[in-house]
Amino acid sequence: MCGIMGYVGPRQASPILLQGLRRLEYRGYDSAGIAVSDGGNMTILKAAGKLDQLEAVVAGAEPPGNLGIGHTRWATHGPPTDLNAHPHTDSTDEFAVVHNGIIENFHQLKEELMAAGKTMVSDTDTEVLVHLISDEYEGDLAAAVRKAVARATGAYALVAVTVHEPDTLVAVRMISPLVVGIGDGEMYLASGIPALLDHTRQVVVLEDGEMVTINPGRVVLETLQGDPIDREPAEIDWDVEQAEKGGYPHFMLKEIFEQSQVAADCVLGRLDGSSVTLEDVEWPRGFVEELDKVWITACGTAFHAGLVGKELFEGLLRVPTEAVYAHELRYRDPILEPGSLTVALSQSGETADTLAAARLLQDRGSRLLAVTNVVGSALTHYADDVIYTRAGPEIAVASTKAYLAMLVSQYLLALDLGHRRGALDQARALEVGGALAKLPAQLEEVLKREDGVEDVAQLLAGHDDIYFIGRGLDYAVATEGSLKLKEISYLHSEAMPAGELKHGTLALITEGTPVVVVNTQQHVYDKTTSALQEVKARGAMVIGVAYDDDTEIEAYTDHLLRIPRTLDLLSPVLSIVPLQLLAYHVADHRGLDIDQPRNLAKSVTVE
Ligand code: F6R
Repeated sequence: MCGIMGYVGPRQASPILLQGLRRLEYRGYDSAGIAVSDGGNMTILKAAGKLDQLEAVVAGAEPPGNLGIGHTRWATHGPPTDLNAHPHTDSTDEFAVVHNGIIENFHQLKEELMAAGKTMVSDTDTEVLVHLISDEYEGDLAAAVRKAVARATGAYALVAVTVHEPDTLVAVRMISPLVVGIGDGEMYLASGIPALLDHTRQVVVLEDGEMVTINPGRVVLETLQGDPIDREPAEIDWDVEQAEKGGYPHFMLKEIFEQSQVAADCVLGRLDGSSVTLEDVEWPRGFVEELDKVWITACGTAFHAGLVGKELFEGLLRVPTEAVYAHELRYRDPILEPGSLTVALSQSGETADTLAAARLLQDRGSRLLAVTNVVGSALTHYADDVIYTRAGPEIAVASTKAYLAMLVSQYLLALDLGHRRGALDQARALEVGGALAKLPAQLEEVLKREDGVEDVAQLLAGHDDIYFIGRGLDYAVATEGSLKLKEISYLHSEAMPAGELKHGTLALITEGTPVVVVNTQQHVYDKTTSALQEVKARGAMVIGVAYDDDTEIEAYTDHLLRIPRTLDLLSPVLSIVPLQLLAYHVADHRGLDIDQPRNLAKSVTVE
């Protein structure tokens, strides 16, 4: 989720690059850099931190040149430092590359390049690309890029330049977005339309597997195999704010719709059949075999992801697991045996309570694994191991895609640990791995059903109290569905295990009270259905979240939000999506400030 900007034309490149990066800052903002070529030389300027830092560096020494590329980074490999900031160059400084996304086989490529005598100066996956391109260069940048990307696998967008071709930008799109802006005798390239709107409204959007060679007066679009593509420019009529939201009315909705890609990115290069590779996790010898307790700690939405984790670790590893709110845990006196693992979940990696609870357990001898979306965040400094969730910057205060990425990260972790401990036989591991790999396509399917959710949302928007119930993993999802609703719609909502209703809350269920039931877990299906009958008998309006092929539930529900069938173990990844959409549309009907709900902040760095 980094931002890329490129320019070639008669004007000085650097102010145009900086202006474009400013428009793309919403895509990533932990470091930035530009490369500008004046024909003979290329100047590279970079700075860790927000774009202001780079602007301060450029202000004193604006590099001359009419061609350039720029980048604002959201780190995926390596912390946000000057060295890891883009553009990256080869050892001769004659080639430069900016890149967004993940090169899946970069470890292997890095080893090959180092064995061939190359020196790598950064921790990034990008640096291998620029070395590959310079190695392949024989007087034609487009040909060199084509050969280099044939060796790389992953999901990415890149732009390359060289001093040898001072009016040429070459770019490739492999899943991550790239758009060419057509000017009058000048051309632009960006990872998002907002960066182009100050200059042009004529754009050519690249599709996956396409490559473009750009000169001031010419755009050549081809497949990676070299077949020409003829595509007319499109006219964009969005304003900048609409463009930042990708045409969605709110960041929250955009982020909900990114979740299929987020699930795919999270497993990219990490899951092969049933085998899992977690690049920043290194288990000490014997640790996994002797693991006898898992602690999960987090706050809010991240804690709800942890409730799913608890069921997973107990189910797949058969290791006792406790999920505890970080703000409770940090003031408790937890009893730790040797051989425990703490999984601290935090989108921001900066939540004060989560940091404190994680450190308390670590100080008492637990190994600490951080699951976070922010490379280099405070939590990662203390953690022994890290799983980056790769969801990209989450702008809406209400977390959606980061939650989903935490779920997927925990499935990977559970699969890895279960395998290593021998708690999972090969057939089960393959079944779970196979179902995980299918989730991105199934998420696409769920997202297509937004209209049905919107109809139900209309019915809920006028109610005051809404209940969410479920059992086991369905209960974990109910907690998050309820939180999403209350934080953005300001309606009162409660989640509880379905079996708990009759112990008190049933007294609140009267004619028309909305009750949302998540019912995907077959081993407790009938039990949850009994709870449904109890609320139905009191006149509740029941909204079910159920598998497509579950016809039985129709008798007990008034409205249904359907999801494709998956393993019951994985259903939270799918069943949360209609609930996120429900919360969104209820808040939208109520005309509320969805991206910035009252009294809340994105990152809670105080106690
Ligand atoms: C709700 C939400 C919060 C956060 C919580 C922890 O939508 O986003 O409940 O989940 O404040 O934040 P992180 O994950 O950054 O530790």
